Amino acid sequence: MSRIVIVSNRTPGKGPVAGGLAVALRKVLSEREGFWFGWSGKLTEQPAREARFEDIDGLQVGQIDLTRDDHHAYYAGFSNSILWPSFHLRLDLATIESHWYEGYRRVNHQFARALLPLLKPDDVIWVHDYHLIPLASELRALGARNRIGFYLHIPFPTADALYAIPHHEELMRDLSRYDLVGMQARRDVAAFTEFAEHQMPSTFGGHRSETIDFSRTEVDAFPIGSDPDAFARLSVSPAGTKMVHRMKRALGDQRLILGVDRLDYSKGLPQRVEAYEKLLANNARLRRSVHLLQVAPPSRDSIKEYQETSDTLDAMCGRVMGHFAEPDWQPLTYVKRAYGQPSLAGLYRLAKVGLVTPLRDGMNLVAHEYVGSQNPADPGVLVLSRFAGAAEIFPEALLVNPFDTDETAEALRIALDMPIEERQQRWQALMNAAKHHNVDNWAASFLDRLAPGSMPQSGTRDILYLASVA
Ligand code: G6P
Repeated sequence: MSRIVIVSNRTPGKGPVAGGLAVALRKVLSEREGFWFGWSGKLTEQPAREARFEDIDGLQVGQIDLTRDDHHAYYAGFSNSILWPSFHLRLDLATIESHWYEGYRRVNHQFARALLPLLKPDDVIWVHDYHLIPLASELRALGARNRIGFYLHIPFPTADALYAIPHHEELMRDLSRYDLVGMQARRDVAAFTEFAEHQMPSTFGGHRSETIDFSRTEVDAFPIGSDPDAFARLSVSPAGTKMVHRMKRALGDQRLILGVDRLDYSKGLPQRVEAYEKLLANNARLRRSVHLLQVAPPSRDSIKEYQETSDTLDAMCGRVMGHFAEPDWQPLTYVKRAYGQPSLAGLYRLAKVGLVTPLRDGMNLVAHEYVGSQNPADPGVLVLSRFAGAAEIFPEALLVNPFDTDETAEALRIALDMPIEERQQRWQALMNAAKHHNVDNWAASFLDRLAPGSMPQSGTRDILYLASVA
C-alpha cells in the first residue's frame, strides 16, 4: 500500500491543541505508513534546505524552518490577513498587501524543494488548508508525478470575495494541479463550481485569457468529523470526571451553557455574548440559574484584527457582568486559554447547552465533540450556527442565524426548557450523524478517492475556467 504524506503548515506538537486539524490528522497517520511534513515553528536567518525528522509521540515528522520575513508574509500576511478573512466573507477585516503573495509563494516553493527528495514515486500526498494552495504546482514544477490531494478546512468563498484576493487566478490554476480537491460542505463545492463554470474573467486592461483546465481534478465534499466514541470515553475518564466535579462544585444548581472556540472573529463571540445578555434580559427567571462559560484560547495575536476581537470580547463580557452580576452571582466566566481534550470532554458533558455559533465556519469540530461527549440518558442541546459546515450534517441541532442575537437568545431559552424526551431524540440523531461522519470515515473516503487508479465518481465535474492573465 502506498505511503501517505500529510503536509500542513503546523505539524503536530505536544500539549493541548486549539484547532481541530491536528487532532484529526494525528489519528490518520498513526494508522498508515508515511510521515507528516510542515513548518517546524522555528524562525531562522538561513533555514536549511533539507527537512529534519523528529519522532513526535510515535509520528515521523519532517520539518523546515522559515525566515522571519517569509513567515510573516506567508502566515500572518497572505494566509491570515487575506485568504482567511476573504474565505470567511470578512473583506472588511482583510488587509490587502499584495506583496505578501511573493512570500506565500516563496514558502510554498521552499516546502516543495525540501519535500521532493523525501518522496517515493508511489507516495500519495495529502496537502491541508489554505496556507498551501500552490504546493502541488510547486511540486509538479520540480517533477513530482505523485497523486496529490488538497483538503480545504475552511469555507470556499463566493465569487465576489474570491475576486478581492490578489492573484486569485493563479490560486485557481494551482487548485487545478491537484488530482483531488476536497471541501467541507456541499455549499463549498457549489461556490467553487459556480465560480469555475460561470465567472468570466475581467476583460479590462488588455489581459489575454488563458484556460484553466479542471478536467483532471475531482472536486467534492468530504465533511470532516471527530472521534465521537473517543469523546464519549474521555468525558467519563478520570481527567474528564475531575473537571466535571470541579465545575459542579463551582456551579451548584446553575445550568452550564458552554462555548469553546479559538479567539477568532469568524467565531461570532461578541454576538454570542450579546445573545446571552438578551437571554438574561428577557427571562428574569433564568438569572442565577444559568452560567455561560466561554473558553477562548488566543489565536494569531500578532494580527491587529485578532487583538481587536479580543478587546471587543473583553468589553462585552464586562458589560454583561456589570449589568447582571451580583455580589454572590456571576453570569459568565470567560477563560482565555486552551484545555486538553479530557478536560474539554468533561466540560462538554456537563454543559446543558453547547453554543456553537460561528458567523462562518468550514465544519466546526466542537459541535461534533460536544455531541460525542453527552450522557445518553440526559443529553444537552446543541445550538448551532446555520453558517457552519456542521449544519449540513446536524439538522437536528437548534439551527440559528448567529447575526440575529434575538433568535439565538430564543434558541437558548428553548434549549434550556427542552423536555428530556426531545433532547434524547435530537441527540440520538446527532450522535448517529457524528458517528457516520467520524474522522476515520472522512480520511478513508478522501484517501480511497485519491488512491492511484481510483475511478472518478459521479461528483466529478469537467470544468474549464477562463482566467485572465497579465
Ligand atoms: C483553523 C485552520 C487550521 C489552523 C487552525 C489553527 O482550524 O483551518 O489550518 O491550523 O485554525 O490556527 P493557527 O493559525 O493557529 O494554525
